[in-house]
Amino acid sequence: MIELKGRKLVLGVTGGVAAYKAAELVRLLGKAGADVHVVLTEGGARFVTAVTFQALSGNRVWTDLWDPRMDNNMAHIDLTRDADAILIAPASADVMAKLTHGLADDLLTTLCLARDCPLLVAPAMNRQMWEHPATQRNVAQLRADGVTLFGPAAGEQACGEVGLGRMLEPEELCEAVIGFFQPRLLAGRRVVMTAGPTFEAIDPVRGITNSSSGKMAYGLARACAQAGAEVVLVSGPVALPVPAGAHRVSVRSALEMHEAVFAALPGADVFIGVAAVADYRPATSAEHKIKKSGAELSITLTPNPDILADVAGLPNPPFCVGFAAESRNLDEYAEGKRKAKKLPLIVGNLVQDGLGGDDNLVVLYDAAGRHPLPKATKPDLARAIVAHLAGLLPQV
Ligand code: CTP
Repeated sequence: MIELKGRKLVLGVTGGVAAYKAAELVRLLGKAGADVHVVLTEGGARFVTAVTFQALSGNRVWTDLWDPRMDNNMAHIDLTRDADAILIAPASADVMAKLTHGLADDLLTTLCLARDCPLLVAPAMNRQMWEHPATQRNVAQLRADGVTLFGPAAGEQACGEVGLGRMLEPEELCEAVIGFFQPRLLAGRRVVMTAGPTFEAIDPVRGITNSSSGKMAYGLARACAQAGAEVVLVSGPVALPVPAGAHRVSVRSALEMHEAVFAALPGADVFIGVAAVADYRPATSAEHKIKKSGAELSITLTPNPDILADVAGLPNPPFCVGFAAESRNLDEYAEGKRKAKKLPLIVGNLVQDGLGGDDNLVVLYDAAGRHPLPKATKPDLARAIVAHLAGLLPQV
């Protein structure tokens, strides 16, 4: 994924144990395509050396306000002039206090004062330092000044205490940075989605399921969350991490999924049915493991409710989006499903075009007709679907 391609980031690393995680963060940001320029404070340099950051970023590391390597000797101005953002991770209580008051007594704080790009801050400190009224005043002031805070998280701290103040993990920070640059097309919207396969039990150890990977749904949940939506992901059994900003409700069978969806629906603006819901379930599920007898065994199947059709059939339904995976006649079948289930939008794809893989060929169908999406990676497709559906939502 190169979702930060073309982005220049200045990463400020201040004095805190979490500085060791900043090394991994540089690697992840670089992997996502960003051009990372590290500015190390004196405190930060006590934890990790400039050599590490230089090797990982492939760029010179800056530590000194008076660094003569910049031709015009104005590192404090030039470093951020074409930057897309300054990210400070870890941000100590001290640097946050300085930022609040506009102090500029080292390269990083001077850059922050002289910047014309967004400032993102990932606090990392002992829980009592975080809870201190002085820090909380600074946090409120920084937010009022338009600074974006990522975290902190709660958990066990380097000092052995447990509480709020841990820096977000590098993976979470990288996701937050990617999300920061996305347009907030779904801000204030509540999105309920289904994901993955369902598992219909035959007995306590066996069942009927399918090979849905859940990747499309989880990718879409991530794109919705990054577009500013509150996301509830009602998910069948898949081993995928929950995207940042989404809340997962784990279910197994279609009936459980149906119940969980309707419990999550109040207040929903959008419902997206991505799950590969089993059309049938065993009419009865044996209480104990079925023993082999050598004789023929038949299982009677009974139809499952159609979750998407039931949601779309509500008197005041949310904006409903369906998925249609077909092996042929995509236009006819997808549009047919859209009409039959009364959906304003359906996402169709031909299964031979890579369902379950990392790339998909997708066509959107709505009242205005068919809209083929350019072949792209799943994150890009997910964003294109979000942009299309956001454009169809009634204004609030
Ligand atoms: N869906 C659902 N509940 C079901 C079945 C499907 O919510 N019990 C949703 C899926 O999440 C997807 C869409 O409906 O958004 C798929 O439509 P469907 O007609 O069920 O697709 P298939 O099961 O593939 O239909 P067919 O076997 O007829 O092709």
